[in-house]
Amino acid sequence: MQPLLEVWNLSKQFGGLHAVRNVSFSVREGEVVSIIGPNGAGKTTVFNLISGFLQPTAGEVIFRGQVVSRLKPHQRARLGLGRTFQIVRPFSGLTILENVMVGAFLHTRSPAVAREEAMQILRFVGLEHRAHQFPGSLTLAGRKRLEVARALATRPRLILLDEVVAGLNPTEAEEMIRLLRRLSELGVSAVAGVEHVMRVVLRLSDRVVVLHHGEKIAEGPPEAVVRDPVVIAAYLGGEVTAGA
Ligand SMILES: Nc1ncnc2c1ncn2[C@@H]1O[C@H](COP(=O)(O)OP(=O)(O)OP(=O)(O)O)[C@@H](O)[C@H]1O
Ligand SMILES: [Mg+2]
Repeated sequence: MQPLLEVWNLSKQFGGLHAVRNVSFSVREGEVVSIIGPNGAGKTTVFNLISGFLQPTAGEVIFRGQVVSRLKPHQRARLGLGRTFQIVRPFSGLTILENVMVGAFLHTRSPAVAREEAMQILRFVGLEHRAHQFPGSLTLAGRKRLEVARALATRPRLILLDEVVAGLNPTEAEEMIRLLRRLSELGVSAVAGVEHVMRVVLRLSDRVVVLHHGEKIAEGPPEAVVRDPVVIAAYLGGEVTAGA
């Protein structure tokens, strides 16, 4: 079966900097794929290229068999490509419910439908009691949940999660992991995550792609990848064990 997402020889240059260079990988239905790598490795840039917030210098993004490399972010979202942002920026003047409704308006014009769906998603992420408050009242863990809720409201088939566990305390991280394990209940059939917390990567991923200086240096099952000497060398300084 054709993968849900295919990325072919993706490259992005910022001036003279090769932020992403010749990266290829795929994500199949039902899979959780993690993208790891040291700070500045190009992980967020890869997500921006897949979701359309950046145009690649070279390479293609294929989603559900369609070349989407030149589509705008909202067009890709409508096809079922959802994402969260590493730096969460909810609309501070909108309530938590309204923030999630913004995502739902991608596929409905009816405020009543958007509201109902947004409430269902807030219940799913455990923020329903906060619906009418403003995002400024949330802790980091709450803001990360809101970020996931906003992405879920667009009804993604594939969700790109950029560091939704990083910065959370162990209890909050555990709750987020539980939530991520239930995403299929909302029709999400595949997940690509960027995560620094290796314990989370090991527990959630079917496959791991490792980036270093913009290039893919390894790919495979999580247990094998973290033992790969090439990967350990890239992380020298100890990040690969941080938080494990
Ligand atoms: N818009 C931009 N303009 C110029 N350089 C950029 C831009 N975005 C990213 N970069 C550079 O590209 C490289 C890759 O950045 P990116 O944010 O993709 O890394 P990352 O792997 O997500 O890092 P982190 O783990 O810190 O989130 C870095 O050197 C970064 O400074
Ligand atoms: Mg990043």
